[in-house]
Amino acid sequence: MATSSSCVVISDEEQGYDLDLFCIPKHYAADLERVYIPHGLILDRTERLAREIMKEMGGHHIVALCVLKGGYKFFADLLDYIKALNRNSDRSIPMTVDFIRLKSYCNDQSTGEIKVIGGDDLSTLTGKNVLIVEDIIDTGKTMKTLLQLLKQYNPKMVKVFNAPVFMKETHPFSLFLCVSVVGFEVPDKFVVGYALDYNEYFRDLNHICVISETGKEKYKA
Ligand code: HPA
Ligand code: MG
Repeated sequence: MATSSSCVVISDEEQGYDLDLFCIPKHYAADLERVYIPHGLILDRTERLAREIMKEMGGHHIVALCVLKGGYKFFADLLDYIKALNRNSDRSIPMTVDFIRLKSYCNDQSTGEIKVIGGDDLSTLTGKNVLIVEDIIDTGKTMKTLLQLLKQYNPKMVKVFNAPVFMKETHPFSLFLCVSVVGFEVPDKFVVGYALDYNEYFRDLNHICVISETGKEKYKA
């Protein structure tokens, strides 16, 4: 696994926490294995990331681009922290927001073609600092295609912000270069919660948890 000191690394050996130690919705009690990243830790990390982002991008108008649906929790929390920084410092910058969904066309695995749905005309990104907020980078294919698409609109700067991020051994190095701010690096396990879903379920769960076999079966598509 790729390691990095610039994000919180959850190791392969991480056991997580017993569900009974935290507040879990009753309807999911049997569907989860362990609490992997407690909500509070996600928020604390997000607060720090807001600071890093302002340091890197805060000199110029930021367009915060939320990739729905998985990015919405993180997006809302991150922007709250950025707003707090803006109103409490002598220096602040305007920030506008937009929301998109990505539809992949993958009849053939290697195509990697994506369609952007919703959002304003992408030409509004020209000359701006674009902050992409996404939930997970798994294979990295979608993110790479999105970045190529956005580049055509000549933004001043594009930063991708993800949490948590799967950093698999198969990750291309080029992806590391464009993902500048990473929340968490996690092992290759299927995790849910904090807007991450399994067939649309578990978005209504605060913590990042590992799904159980019962859960996989129950919410199978
Ligand atoms: N959880 C939710 N969605 C995902 C994951 C995951 O672990 N990996 C890729 N998409
Ligand atoms: Mg999903």
